[in-house]
Amino acid sequence: MTEMLAFPKDFWWGSAWSAEQAEGRGETGKAETVWEHWFKTEPNRFYEGIGPEITTDHINRYKEDIQLMKETGHNSFRISISWARMFPNGGVGEKNPKAIAFYRDLLTEMNESGIKPFANLYHFDMPFALQEQGGWESREVVESYVTFATTCFEEFGDLVYHWFTFNEPLGPILGSYLEDFHYPNIVDFKRGAQAGFNTILAHAKAIESFKKLNLTSKIGVILNLSPTYPRSQNEYDREAAEIADAFYTRSFLDPMVKGTFPKRLVEILKEYDQMPTYEENDLKIIAENTSQILGLNYYEPRRVKARLTEINKRGPFLPEWFFELHNMPGKKMNVYRGWEIYERGIYDLCVDIRDNYGNIEAFISENGMGVANEERFLNEEGQIIDDYRINYIKDHLAYVHKAIQDGCNINGYHLWTFIDCWSWINSYKNRYGLVSLDLKTQKRTIKKSGEFYKEMSLNNGFEYETSKLV
Ligand code: BG6
Repeated sequence: MTEMLAFPKDFWWGSAWSAEQAEGRGETGKAETVWEHWFKTEPNRFYEGIGPEITTDHINRYKEDIQLMKETGHNSFRISISWARMFPNGGVGEKNPKAIAFYRDLLTEMNESGIKPFANLYHFDMPFALQEQGGWESREVVESYVTFATTCFEEFGDLVYHWFTFNEPLGPILGSYLEDFHYPNIVDFKRGAQAGFNTILAHAKAIESFKKLNLTSKIGVILNLSPTYPRSQNEYDREAAEIADAFYTRSFLDPMVKGTFPKRLVEILKEYDQMPTYEENDLKIIAENTSQILGLNYYEPRRVKARLTEINKRGPFLPEWFFELHNMPGKKMNVYRGWEIYERGIYDLCVDIRDNYGNIEAFISENGMGVANEERFLNEEGQIIDDYRINYIKDHLAYVHKAIQDGCNINGYHLWTFIDCWSWINSYKNRYGLVSLDLKTQKRTIKKSGEFYKEMSLNNGFEYETSKLV
């Protein structure tokens, strides 16, 4: 049966991106970031050798882009504020008046266009000079981050609707310390645990500073959360799933939302001598300064089974010592990105937050489908006909709707992304946008999904065949 799925009044319809992926370097002055440095030294690591110099050139085209936000039905949008742009002397020292002028103008125009600005303070873009000092492993870097965050609250507090300390803080830990997809490509769990702990501390300290300013906005964090499913109900599979979940889901969710650390994870890290160092007062700061709002990034589930093989104890300690990923037969795939598509996972995630995290105010802060060679789908008028993306959005949103009906406190949906943007080492391989980008000319064209998005936002919902829901 086809039904109109109506969303709550004032639901946030929008999308998200980040400074390093969309702005381009521009002329304001900006410290070198780890991405710019890594691209300079190892361009071969980036798809087709395209780096972060220009990306989607938003810094020069933001006025045109805000018009496109309106034309694609946005009532809200997440940007990130570049630390390197705000503090061009290596992320510390004097703040940058040109950066402040840019962000103030951007945020003002968004507000005047009826688009609520959501601002994130860190999206993988460490100033290189601070990485040289140890990055998140260094407590001085934590203090520099708090200074940057406080400066943003003071300069933009009147213009930002909601704040986020970090986007996916787990990402740089996996990429930089375990899996070799972020600079500085270290493989060392214990150092990663230290960087992770300091990130959690930085989040809490930024919230502590935010609360002193008595702004009307809220502050929280955006986490990439994959529900963990065991291969079977076999006790060993379930144990493997429980441990994987502790490493990848509870590790940041518990301290950043509840102010506590997951017991199972701490036990394992102690047993294997992987605990970070900290000061006693850090735990108090973390406990007292938790998120007021939570962004949920959902792309794929995590499927796990008990290990089949012995661990190589002469290799580096890794979470995979306790489980293996399960390649579930018959799963639906986004073959371009190599991620499973499992729409019901978004429902299970929302229910977890409802039941285990006090039903904190939350929203879907990222979800989306990256597709390679999208020019295959151009029609004669030069528009990309991306019905697959429209279906992807509807199929996920139908489960978000169900979650809301079942009492989950979900107030919005932000797609990844608005205009095609730069995807780190994948560069412009997979396109995620509601608006396509011609990389040679920077011409923007609304895709079919962009038109659909506008209609959905205007209707505050869409027609859906609800018998598809399981
Ligand atoms: C999210 C990140 O994990 O996924 C984005 O917050 C990223 O920065 C997006 O671009 C899509 O992933 P990818 O690797 O295809 O760019």
